[in-house]
Amino acid sequence: MMFAKSLAILASAALAAAELHIVWFDNRCGNGEPVIVQNGEQLSSGDYSYIFRGPATAASAFLQDGSCGAAGENCTLVEFTLVDGVNSADISLIEPHTFSQSVGFAYSNGCDGEGKTCASADCPEAFHDADDFDAEVQCARNDVNLNITFC
Ligand SMILES: *[C@@H]1O[C@H](CO)[C@@H](O)[C@H](O)[C@H]1NC(C)=O
Ligand SMILES: *[C@@H]1O[C@H](CO)[C@@H](O)[C@H](O)[C@H]1NC(C)=O
Repeated sequence: MMFAKSLAILASAALAAAELHIVWFDNRCGNGEPVIVQNGEQLSSGDYSYIFRGPATAASAFLQDGSCGAAGENCTLVEFTLVDGVNSADISLIEPHTFSQSVGFAYSNGCDGEGKTCASADCPEAFHDADDFDAEVQCARNDVNLNITFC
């Protein structure tokens, strides 16, 4: 019995340690494909959800409508780090990014609905300069997901 009990404890510890984050896209633009990139690598394109099994550090997402570079150059960029306890996300319009369409993000499964929407090239919700720290939205929960809406 002791053995079975310690197995159960081990199993629940393993479950608790399995950090997971889902990025959901809601593309209302009628064109373009949501893309996720991390460290110069494209992780997904055209999918409506992407699962990070573990921490997602310094990833970004944008809507590829044919005019964006591979890293989202010339387009509105959502930057995010989904790491248990220290999640952070923002919208960047800092060069080489420019406003391409409105975009919003919001956390779910923790900090539900907290996020930002940028609807114009001069929106105050996005980073225009490196010191626009108000643009960052942080969430200190675990296993949080991110919903990103285009248009
Ligand atoms: C961004 O747009 C400029 C001006 O249209 C263009 O010259 C440049 O090649 C574009 N950059 C990328 C990475 O597509
Ligand atoms: C996030 O997207 C999922 C899947 O579309 C949806 O079920 C959920 O309600 C959304 N949450 C928020 C906070 O928008």
